[in-house]
Amino acid sequence: MPIDFNSATKLITLTTDTTTYQMKVDPYGYLIHLYYGARTSGDMSYLVTYADRSGMCGCPYDVHDRTYSLDVLPQEFPFQGSGDMRSPLLVVRDAEGAFGCDLRYVGHTISNGMFSLPGLPAVYSEEDDEAQSLSVQLRDERLGLEVELLYGVLPHFDVITRALIVTNAGNASVTVERLQSACLDFVHGDLDVMTFNGRHAMERRPDRHRIGHGSFSVGSRRGMSSNQYSPFMIVCDHAATEFNGRAWAMNYVYSGGFEAEVERDQYNQVRVQMGLSDDRFSYPLNPGERLVAPEVIMAYSHEGIGRISNIMHRCIRKRVCRGYWRDRRRPVLVNSWEAMHFNFNGDSLLDLAKTAADLGIELFVMDDGWFAERDNDICSLGDWRVNEKKLGRSLAELADQINDLGLKFGIWVEPEMISEDSDLYRAHPDWVLALPGKAPTLGRDQLVLDLSRADVRDNLFEQLCGILDQAHIEYVKWDYNRCITDAYSRTTTDQGKVLYDYMIGVYDLLERLIKRYPKVLFEGCSAGGGRYDAGMMYYTPQIWTSDNTDADNRLTIQYGSSFGFPLSVMGAHVSACPNEINNRTVPLTTRGHVAMAGGSFGYELDLNELPGRAFDHIRRQISLYHEIENIVCEGELYRLSSPMDDDVCAWENVLEDGSEAIMTAVVLKVEGYAQANYVTLRGLTPGANYRELTTGVVYPANALMDMGMPLPVNTEMYASYLYRFERVEG
Ligand code: GLA
Repeated sequence: MPIDFNSATKLITLTTDTTTYQMKVDPYGYLIHLYYGARTSGDMSYLVTYADRSGMCGCPYDVHDRTYSLDVLPQEFPFQGSGDMRSPLLVVRDAEGAFGCDLRYVGHTISNGMFSLPGLPAVYSEEDDEAQSLSVQLRDERLGLEVELLYGVLPHFDVITRALIVTNAGNASVTVERLQSACLDFVHGDLDVMTFNGRHAMERRPDRHRIGHGSFSVGSRRGMSSNQYSPFMIVCDHAATEFNGRAWAMNYVYSGGFEAEVERDQYNQVRVQMGLSDDRFSYPLNPGERLVAPEVIMAYSHEGIGRISNIMHRCIRKRVCRGYWRDRRRPVLVNSWEAMHFNFNGDSLLDLAKTAADLGIELFVMDDGWFAERDNDICSLGDWRVNEKKLGRSLAELADQINDLGLKFGIWVEPEMISEDSDLYRAHPDWVLALPGKAPTLGRDQLVLDLSRADVRDNLFEQLCGILDQAHIEYVKWDYNRCITDAYSRTTTDQGKVLYDYMIGVYDLLERLIKRYPKVLFEGCSAGGGRYDAGMMYYTPQIWTSDNTDADNRLTIQYGSSFGFPLSVMGAHVSACPNEINNRTVPLTTRGHVAMAGGSFGYELDLNELPGRAFDHIRRQISLYHEIENIVCEGELYRLSSPMDDDVCAWENVLEDGSEAIMTAVVLKVEGYAQANYVTLRGLTPGANYRELTTGVVYPANALMDMGMPLPVNTEMYASYLYRFERVEG
């Protein structure tokens, strides 16, 4: 069984196909973390050593043993007040304002299936027998505080997930001041940490460095997971590479503010943890109330970082993404934004749609600018009524005309926001997050609606249903274009709850909508990739990766995004050159190859501005995409080289059974009379032969995976090559 409790040794062991995770309830009732690594059996408590290490602090009052200190021991759930002076997962204050608690094991239960979390996204199981869940109950007697540690094990996905629920089962209020969901304590190791950093239009660049003494954290105080830091982190051996060495990862299933921290302590031990941001967080619980800490997906690999990515891809693709679109091919789309911005009318949209249909595009997306007086970005958010004057027809008529061309029709919305210049704001100025008496901070000239309020959510639900019911709409792009600065809600006196409750409100609204419109494809967006996280992926199985569509920059953005998140989610479009953000020109072939690295492929330019001969090129691009999209979405990814460090950026997608593969390479450096660049492939069936489909040449897999494949010599900057390989019998 994936979860085992040994009542004699008090060991709890979690097992997946290739990993083992073990903890122990010690004689004092504390939960000691023993092991997370390659699959094994037996008792790993030998890994924990006990000795008098000066006894400065850390011995619980009933222990009186200087060789026992929670300041040294690896723990499952370190909390403040135990004598462990490292960074805790939980900090609480009692009704008197005093800090500290003492949580001890009282029991546990094991059940079939994955646990679910009220109001929050979580990894799910399809069949009860494909997963098991563990609930470990801890209790603080003084406060009557209960903590339920939740572990979900999906053995064939090779993931273990963690979350927890804090319940006030006492008689007085307590306040949760810090709440992290998961922790990994390492008793030794020369470890690196990888985080993914960026900004608007340049998201998720990998950053790797050795874990030194002290603590290092990334996170977001923006009320969103953010364009700046991704809620995904890898810790690995200092010597680990894409293909070798040990690596561990945490992926937060949450879209609000977060913190991901690594801390190297006085004994060179490392603690890794992930959870809610402490920023403006202070959550009171009255007797009987509870607080749920969002889930963290954990993975371990002893075959390098690349395998971590493939574990995350499969888990998110199959057990986070849900519903009608989860396993369906995503329609190739054209989006009006970079083609027209706000400057369109119904006729110009139809002109674009006609060309799109002629080229084989399947979905037409009318982006921002179709509602109320929205001809620029300083007004009308909140007023979700169709501007029929601008469109020259009703929304239903426009959708029908687009459908008649053979295209699906979709729209852009940004429901969580409100413009000061809007009827909604004039009617309900108190519906925004803003401090009374302080001028609110604007972002893109807009304010954030208080989605912690049920009346605000109901209004948005009604307005959005009003739109979705009036026309044949099969796709919605759900945008979110500023962060939360003034986190003040008029409906509570506990402002430390607002950022968390806001996120619960967003999830509630999305859940209601996807239940009511199960076949509508929702694409997430937040100034591009500002909420590119596993939480949003539960509701939106594709997300616009970045507002930056330059193919060169996209190599880095998509490379970084691929470490934690599946390619099927990755919205990637071919846009016009010179690029509107950085003025760069890249060949159309390369723009196509780079966009085809994402499983949510499309175009974002005025197709009618292209020279006629580009049309055939685009038709071929789309048909090539249809031929490879299942390998991109369903296959394993191999990052063969890096767009940040190498002369060629190459990646490979291989179907799990090794029968088909694609290798794409983009040249990023050219020199005079140079030797060819060789790309070494991975993941092919050893000993087999593979035919490259364009040339018909047959290559031995062992040679491709040893000396590699030469790219054409004397190539140009940004030249790109896409090879398709099929295993041949015999
Ligand atoms: C954001 C999105 C863009 C586009 C604009 C519209 O920036 O990321 O793709 O939808 O909003 O205002």
